[in-house]
Amino acid sequence: MMFRGSERSLNNVSIKSVREVDLLREACQMATATLHGVDAMLAPGLTTEDLNRFVHEDTVRRGAWPAPLNYHGFPKSVCTSVNEVVCHGIPDKRVLEPGDIVNVDVTSIYKGFFGDTSATFYIGDPSPEAKHVTEVSRHALALGIAEVRDGARLGDIGAAIQHFAEAQGCSVVRAFVGHGIGRNFHEPPQVSHIGTRGSGMRLRAGMCFTIEPMINLGNYDVEVLEDGWTAVTRDGSLSAQFEHTIVVTKSGCEVLTRRSAPLVHSDRFPGTFG
Ligand code: MF3
Ligand code: CO
Ligand code: CO
Repeated sequence: MMFRGSERSLNNVSIKSVREVDLLREACQMATATLHGVDAMLAPGLTTEDLNRFVHEDTVRRGAWPAPLNYHGFPKSVCTSVNEVVCHGIPDKRVLEPGDIVNVDVTSIYKGFFGDTSATFYIGDPSPEAKHVTEVSRHALALGIAEVRDGARLGDIGAAIQHFAEAQGCSVVRAFVGHGIGRNFHEPPQVSHIGTRGSGMRLRAGMCFTIEPMINLGNYDVEVLEDGWTAVTRDGSLSAQFEHTIVVTKSGCEVLTRRSAPLVHSDRFPGTFG
């Protein structure tokens, strides 16, 4: 496979130049800004279509474009995944109610680059179960990110996530993975959220990809609804997800979708895990 605009690659994974990473960072910060806007508007009584309208308009206002719209036929500008929805929820008339958790997954295209980030938000006060699966998925992502550095292996990321999530009594979704990103929404490598330490491709500085573990309270099996997109847990249990886009560096990584302030409706339980 060839990648538009990238000059170097290793194992079919493009190595971005400093200039390319600068552009990717700009796209990522567009997505992050829009996610902050979602956070600011969230309240019980809104529909997921209200979130879609905001994301579309906010993205365009910033001079970017919402990548989900018409992506392989996806009909909306953002994915909104409530409670037992694992990912790829389609915004509709569903009303957000106190006790719900909702993942909002924003991907912005800016200057030809894709920035991809998501968070799970609390609507009102969560049940202990909703809080648990959400905080486990938040910390699982942090542990995955902490594995990343030049010379580490892809399997180190999945191993760290899987070990923690399973120790907390949760399961890690197998059916969807993180992905390389740049001038393409999805490109190699596939970033599994389960794995074996010391296995898999070696990470090299300049590789850019997402880590986006989907964590279920029950079993990891998912089912895609008739609409062809909405993935739900087979057992109906709650599911939560966080996503960042990162670039591998010599000493670690840079989180290109990093937030400079907490999310009011998500970062509500600091210190739950490490
Ligand atoms: N943003 C999702 C991801 O993290 C992909 C959504 S594809 C869509 O990879 F078509 F559903 F928008
Ligand atoms: Co992604
Ligand atoms: Co995403």
